[in-house]
Amino acid sequence: MRITMIGSGYVGLVSGACFSDFGHDVICVDKDASKIAALEAGKMPIFEPGLDKLVETNVAAGRLTFTTDLKSAVAGADAVFIAVGTPSRRGDGHADLSYVFAASKEIAEAVTGPIVIVTKSTVPVGTGDKVEEIMAEANTGHEIAVVSNPEFLREGAAIGDFKRPDRIVIGTEDERAMQVMRDVYRPLHLNHSPILFTGRRTSELIKYAANAFLATKITFINEIADLCEAVGANVQDVSRGIGLDNRIGSKFLHAGPGYGGSCFPKDTLALLKTSEDYDTPVHIVEAVVRVNDNRKRAMGRKVIKALGGIGSDGVKGKTVAMLGLTFKPNTDDMRDAPSLSIVQSLIDAGVKVQAHDPEGMEPAKAMMPDITYCGDAYEAVAGADAVVIVTEWDVYRALDLKRVAAAMNAPVMVDLRNIYPPSDVERAGFAYSSIGR
Ligand code: UDX
Repeated sequence: MRITMIGSGYVGLVSGACFSDFGHDVICVDKDASKIAALEAGKMPIFEPGLDKLVETNVAAGRLTFTTDLKSAVAGADAVFIAVGTPSRRGDGHADLSYVFAASKEIAEAVTGPIVIVTKSTVPVGTGDKVEEIMAEANTGHEIAVVSNPEFLREGAAIGDFKRPDRIVIGTEDERAMQVMRDVYRPLHLNHSPILFTGRRTSELIKYAANAFLATKITFINEIADLCEAVGANVQDVSRGIGLDNRIGSKFLHAGPGYGGSCFPKDTLALLKTSEDYDTPVHIVEAVVRVNDNRKRAMGRKVIKALGGIGSDGVKGKTVAMLGLTFKPNTDDMRDAPSLSIVQSLIDAGVKVQAHDPEGMEPAKAMMPDITYCGDAYEAVAGADAVVIVTEWDVYRALDLKRVAAAMNAPVMVDLRNIYPPSDVERAGFAYSSIGR
């Protein structure tokens, strides 16, 4: 099969590389010439474990190529995937579909035969209909089907998620498009990954409903964690105790500083906008968005309290070491990371911040220029009045706690990811606080 991927960002690149690894012939397109040049030279624009090797192998095998020339890439393709960005529109939180529509118009001009156009980008309900209108207006004379095929990739685990998905969702009622999509995903189907065919609007909504549900699960356990702190219960045991019920399931019940990243914040907001447009409120998701925003700010107050301050008083001139800045481990993504809110409230309170992150310091420097960036965790804790674990990178899981305590001005630890057993930290001489226990 010949597959064209429009957009060589996170989703496009991972999907394109994985499709080529299945044996398909894949061309990844991007408007950014420097990105394409870098990819051709084997340099990845994002940090994703295993991606560089996958790209290298498939480029060497001649199955994966890159180009800025959309027209020649679309000519003769069996399927064209649209994997361009759909950021939150400034001002109103709606998904910005201008890149999707621009790509659709360019595709319409480049089509040379029967083709299936697949939206992989996360797009609001009804976007497929609009793409179909664009194709109809272009009057290409060719048979064109527009399909929705949302991705469910987690950053840091994207290749595994692509190759061993819980399910593949395909929104189309067109018989020919169904067959093309079956061929595209045949290797996964042979691996017994279920393929769910639905209507196109249903498929578009599945993506938002899935992310909103996961965001709800996290936010639920975060509020239960607060309640645990108030009543003297342990949230990790509560998670285990409820998660063993198969109807609930144990995943996404880790209490923490609130969800961040490129998907949950954006997709929950976009779902709210859709619900407003159709005058059908989703009150639960409204609450999730509000509670999660408040939580990130509350984490800053939690650190200030651990420093001995009340509100933002009494901590001016103190130093906090932050370990982990990205919204989760194994990524360099800083988008909507809780660290951003925490750093802001510390700086507002006159606290100095020394930070370390294994992959995220370059993007973080642009977003938080007023903090000090350190070479490792031990450098970050030197002379600090408190250390805060913000992201659960593996390198922070087995710190030499005695060495950390000795390097600090005061041994205070705030563990926002519950990666340490309280007794271990307290034995090393720390005043320790964590989440919901
Ligand atoms: C998510 C979805 O998992 C994926 O299916 C979708 O396509 C894109 O959005 P991602 O944003 O990469 O993926 O990360 P994920 O691992 O889901 O974590 C999202 C956020 O939730 C992170 O900030 C993480 O720290 C937080 N989280 C996750 C928790 O706080 N507790 C949990 O139990 C799980």
